[in-house]
Amino acid sequence: MAERRVLLVIGGGIAAYKCLELIRRLKERGIAVRCVLTRAAKELVSPLTVAALAGEKVYDALFSLTDEAEMGHIRLAREADLVLVAPATADLLAKMANGLADDLASTLLLATDRPVLVAPAMNPVMWAHPATRRNLARLVADGIGVIGPAEGDMACGETGPGRLVEPSELLEAVLARLEPGARPLSALRALVTSGPTREPIDPVRFLANRSSGRQGHAIAKALADAGAEVTLVSGPVATPDPPGVRTVHVETAREMLEACLAALPVEVAICAAAVADWRPESAPGEKIKKEPGAPPPVLRLVENPDILATLARHPTARPRLVVGFAAETGDLEAKARTKRAKKGCDWILANDVSEGTGVFGGARNRILLIAGEGPAEAWPELAKEEVARRLVERIVTALGRRSP
Ligand code: CTP
Repeated sequence: MAERRVLLVIGGGIAAYKCLELIRRLKERGIAVRCVLTRAAKELVSPLTVAALAGEKVYDALFSLTDEAEMGHIRLAREADLVLVAPATADLLAKMANGLADDLASTLLLATDRPVLVAPAMNPVMWAHPATRRNLARLVADGIGVIGPAEGDMACGETGPGRLVEPSELLEAVLARLEPGARPLSALRALVTSGPTREPIDPVRFLANRSSGRQGHAIAKALADAGAEVTLVSGPVATPDPPGVRTVHVETAREMLEACLAALPVEVAICAAAVADWRPESAPGEKIKKEPGAPPPVLRLVENPDILATLARHPTARPRLVVGFAAETGDLEAKARTKRAKKGCDWILANDVSEGTGVFGGARNRILLIAGEGPAEAWPELAKEEVARRLVERIVTALGRRSP
């Protein structure tokens, strides 16, 4: 393969140090990295270190006569297979969204005709600010790729979304864009369920659960990143629709089943939704009122359809691979094996949702994969995104898309 070249624009965020590791890893893969530092970035990482790791001159000034003589900034903007902005600060994103060009980094970003990927990193309140949301929506509409931010503790002492994704994740994102073979599931049709369901009691009340949809959404995204055509059927969640995925929004288990059946045929189905097992037998069209002296109403529940079992036992369009989750409290492996047999699915990802594990609604997950009669495979505790990537790796191997 011809030498691939990345233009890395390092923004002025504390996380800029992570770029050093990224440069090293890109170079290990034989990818040339040319770096541009903003003025603020130069305060956080030393241009000398960046140049030493990249093995190339570092660029930082728009009006540098020597730079212009060696390489015009337009050439700098165009001589790359990919432009990566990391960390992409709120300020850099705002400049990009508005086409400002008042320094070398922003000028290059306006002058480039190459694919651009941004990795935002900032304080969580800045990330949630309507101005940043607006800028980001505009960048996505302009065709800019966005990776992250991750959630967690910030250098500023606050917690939330705003961390630069780890160098390993940045590396993968870059490779996926540079190497065509890095999309091993291209054109594979996949279905993912995610989030809770809401079962109405009356027009204003419902039964639901604490599922955040994070795991299912991460799986949908990881499949799409690997090139699959993904339909995500999601119950009501605050987690945003993953980019590059067709998301169908539903409320009840019955709606979820209907949407899943409508998405068939698929090669792979992954049921990560926390579907309510029961629903109120009837939900009156009018709000149930408190009548003076009357006893509290009694809810009669009826069983909901089992989406996983329905897909796994579909008479005409059973997906080649059906994967379910088993949320259990205690005696994980035995219960998960029983569940696998009961539902008729191929794989079960079992997790312990006992109080205190923080799995439900949390950012991390500890999985026991039961892929057949053989021994179970215990995964370490991982971020839900990492669980999703591992699962996709396993799928790639199982479907023979790439030799193990
Ligand atoms: N599931 C489903 N439809 C349902 C219930 C569950 O598709 N009506 C799927 C979930 O998405 C998950 C798996 O079945 O992949 C296991 O769900 P879980 O709630 O752990 O098991 P249950 O079937 O509810 O069994 P139990 O409550 O007895 O543990």
